[in-house]
Amino acid sequence: MNNNNLTIAMPKGRIMEEAIEIWIKAGLPVPEDLDETRKLIINMKHVQTRWILAKPMDVPTYVEYGVADIGIVGKDVIMESERDVYELLDLKISPCRLSVAGIPGASSKDSVPKIASKYPKIAEKYYREQGKQVEVIQLHGSVELGPIIGLADGIVDIVSTGRTLKENGLIELETIAPITTRLIANQVSYRMKQDRIKEIIDRLSPVL
Ligand code: PRP
Repeated sequence: MNNNNLTIAMPKGRIMEEAIEIWIKAGLPVPEDLDETRKLIINMKHVQTRWILAKPMDVPTYVEYGVADIGIVGKDVIMESERDVYELLDLKISPCRLSVAGIPGASSKDSVPKIASKYPKIAEKYYREQGKQVEVIQLHGSVELGPIIGLADGIVDIVSTGRTLKENGLIELETIAPITTRLIANQVSYRMKQDRIKEIIDRLSPVL
């Protein structure tokens, strides 16, 4: 790829669908037939752009290493990944929050409560800053199961509509951080490809 090409890391799934909507509103190029393809790299040669379709948690990794110049990713993933990337823009899509939740009225029988989470670093930092000792147990999804089946006393997880908590008999206890989707950039690309990246920011900003 020559230096004027831009590689964008897109998170496969819900966020990407919303990102595509604002990409279209902003008049930015979007690949055709995205729904039908299983390709992981999509070249749009006519506009010197390619998309790589990544797992959301891996987007900051591709961007930090510079194999993607920019990326679209939730603030939760930025916080958890602790990667060295520039955060350029709040796209204000997929709003939700990172919260602590648990069984109403329950108290831990252990001296060190157990917290299940897909976000072990965020959970550890949160409790460390509060001066509370907890044991964080990493899960990879359906985290709400943790307290219900007795693996953990509480969870640190994303709450969006609150439906998953409600339907599983859990309540939100504390809010850690509000979350939206962000545009991130590799630090070198941000300097070397500033015209291309600035054009994307300028087109996106008025439609957010
Ligand atoms: C996320 C999150 C909660 C749920 C919250 O899970 O981890 O489980 O969504 O949404 P709600 O408040 O609108 O119910 P996701 O659907 O990504 O699946 P996962 O649990 O397998 O990670």
